[in-house]
Amino acid sequence: MYFKNSVAAIIIIIIIIIGVDAFFSRLIKINSVDTSTLEDRIRPLGQVYLEGDIDVNVIKAPVAVTTKSRSGEEVYTSVCASCHSIGVAGAPKFGVKVDWAPRIKRGMADLVKVTISGVGAMPPKGTCMTCSDDELKAAIEHMTK
Ligand code: HEC
Repeated sequence: MYFKNSVAAIIIIIIIIIGVDAFFSRLIKINSVDTSTLEDRIRPLGQVYLEGDIDVNVIKAPVAVTTKSRSGEEVYTSVCASCHSIGVAGAPKFGVKVDWAPRIKRGMADLVKVTISGVGAMPPKGTCMTCSDDELKAAIEHMTK
């Protein structure tokens, strides 16, 4: 009887010890898991932003490249004037009719064409590589009027 009881007591004690050990080891395990890296590891590759999550106005649609064309005067003063104001290397001078008259006779289309390709001492596009054909035409009109 005494023996039976003590075996039962020992078994109960062992069960309690196992139980307590399991309980605490689980507690320790839970605490030891670094949840931040765990979240990193299970985080989906893409993220979905729902309306209201962020200010959608921050994401701007690509701005359409609308380069405002410069006026003939702007192109002339910034580029052409360096030669055409004083007639560098025989360039027809700004507003000087004798210089331009024979050229105007050839027609605007031809002057634009020649300006684009360059002529004599004048480099292509009169050095204005960013100028559109229309801007060059406007500059010529400004110089010849
Ligand atoms: C580096 C100096 C230089 C610059 C800058 C320059 N030109 Fe000239 N341009 C000349 C010279 C020199 C001539 C005369 C070429 C010739 O007749 O042999 C000329 C001639 C012209 C002619 C007459 C071409 C012809 O067939 O007779 C036009 C039009 C003209 N330039 C437009 C322009 C315009 C527009 C610009 C500015 C975008 C410009 N040029 C900038 C030097 C220049």
